[in-house]
Amino acid sequence: MNFDGEDKRWDEYYKREWNDKRKPLPIEKIIKKAVPKQNAGLYVGLGTGRNVFPLLKEGWNVYACDIAHTSIKNAKENYPQYATHFDYGSYTEAFPHIKAFDYMICSEVLVNGNFPNVVERFRLLKDRLTKEGFLIFELPAIGTDIWPNWKSLSMSKNGSLKLKYRADVPNKLYLSFQDICHLLENAGFKIVYGPKPVNSERSRYPGGLIRDWLGIAQNVSLT
Ligand SMILES: C[S@@+](CC[C@H](N)C(=O)[O-])C[C@H]1O[C@@H](n2cnc3c(N)ncnc32)[C@H](O)[C@@H]1O
Repeated sequence: MNFDGEDKRWDEYYKREWNDKRKPLPIEKIIKKAVPKQNAGLYVGLGTGRNVFPLLKEGWNVYACDIAHTSIKNAKENYPQYATHFDYGSYTEAFPHIKAFDYMICSEVLVNGNFPNVVERFRLLKDRLTKEGFLIFELPAIGTDIWPNWKSLSMSKNGSLKLKYRADVPNKLYLSFQDICHLLENAGFKIVYGPKPVNSERSRYPGGLIRDWLGIAQNVSLT
């Protein structure tokens, strides 16, 4: 899989800025409400583990992968009791001994670059999901206060914002309601909850509002 440099970029980031004490996002509460503890879930993009560590500590059967070596290495070192729940690699190949998960979680991941590529990434999620399995998501929404110093900007006809910062970093995408619905439907999911807007305060520079779409979609592919 081509990660467009995302693997190296995130690896560098976690080498500089590892912090496993960050507060979970609203998605953590939705997972706890919607999912029985014993069901197996795959979390795409462990990152600093802000949403995953609290779930593991409270007994959820969640597995997390990341394409950044440092994220997985730090998780295994700091939480050795859950080491078998962390795996290096993309969601398409991590935990090869588990063929299908009851649910998958995407928080601030897979949405960047170009719309058709994003749809393809979400289509691939279904290869790891049970028939009628669930995708629980929290993804970037239009309304977020954008980072300054962007180099170019465009808007889709449905109102999503695409921003280019640096040549070597994929575009940032902030999705409109219509576009997130189309994205999930085109990837073979049926939305069963949301997408609802959730706001949080950006605690660091440049401050302002972070808005995400929070929701649940179900695998409705025929194959
Ligand atoms: C913006 S961070 C979000 C981290 C975490 N999900 C959160 O909400 O705090 C995106 C993370 O996803 C990882 N990632 C990107 N593409 C991935 C893929 N195909 N499979 C697994 N992880 C991926 C990156 O390395 C990075 O750690």
